[in-house]
Amino acid sequence: MASYDMTGKNALVTGATSGIGRATALMLAENGARVAVAGRDKERGMAVVYAIRANGGEADFIPADLHDAASAKELAHRAAETIGPIDILVNNAGVAAFGPTEDFPEETFDAIMATDVKAPFYLVSEIAPAMAARGGGAVVNVTSISGSIGIADSAAYGAGKSALNQLTRNWAAEYGRKGVRVNAVAPGPVRTPMADRSGDIPDALAEQAPAGYVASPEQIAAAITYLASDESSYTQGTILAVDGGRSAV
Ligand SMILES: NC(=O)c1ccc[n+]([C@@H]2O[C@H](COP(=O)([O-])OP(=O)(O)OC[C@H]3O[C@@H](n4cnc5c(N)ncnc54)[C@H](OP(=O)(O)O)[C@@H]3O)[C@@H](O)[C@H]2O)c1
Repeated sequence: MASYDMTGKNALVTGATSGIGRATALMLAENGARVAVAGRDKERGMAVVYAIRANGGEADFIPADLHDAASAKELAHRAAETIGPIDILVNNAGVAAFGPTEDFPEETFDAIMATDVKAPFYLVSEIAPAMAARGGGAVVNVTSISGSIGIADSAAYGAGKSALNQLTRNWAAEYGRKGVRVNAVAPGPVRTPMADRSGDIPDALAEQAPAGYVASPEQIAAAITYLASDESSYTQGTILAVDGGRSAV
């Protein structure tokens, strides 16, 4: 693992109870950050906190069901109260659902947009100005290859991730001069519980990619950690594809 000095930094990771978010929380903590582990499932959240503490790191679990402005703003406040002012925000929590457009339930469409677009929007609206007021910070949005290439049965999810890609660029323009760097990581298929619920899509994407296999959560966490670190200080508004090369071919 690459190592960075994140001592004294406070990081909020949404969806840190599982998969990519869990791996990111562990990696940020290994590099010295104090981490707010956010998610809905307390048991899995506390397991991540205990794993970090057992490793000598600092972490707390903050329960959050992210679906609107109020839930996002409440998480921002509770995280800052618990671990201190946020220096690093990782917008990772996401809802994925797939299926033909003609049969797609409206409540599922709304759930994707609420968690994957609206919640990050209101987390940034709350946290980025506070980062700017203290001289800077880093936001990393976890999007998807689905936000930039066309995948059958992925219309709603892809639209949400594409929106988050565009928010990344808009926020770089809005907050960059104020010291807040905003970037995104766009993973390809990653072996997580979400991928296990996504039918044939992960294996099909991996099969088409130069790498030829489904990534581990740690391979995505490494890119997120880099973009959250001061080592990426001149990188702003980038959508970093970590997809085994699938979007390039
Ligand atoms: N796996 C892939 O192949 C892949 C590929 C590209 C992009 N991504 C993106 O990577 C991110 C992480 O996915 P993953 O694969 O690591 O999935 P995962 O293991 O299923 O984890 C999803 C996380 O999101 C949280 N979450 C879901 N709905 C939430 C809500 N309403 N409020 C708060 N938290 C919520 C979950 O929390 P609880 O478990 O506590 O409910 C969980 O921690 C997502 O944004 C996903 O779209 C994944």
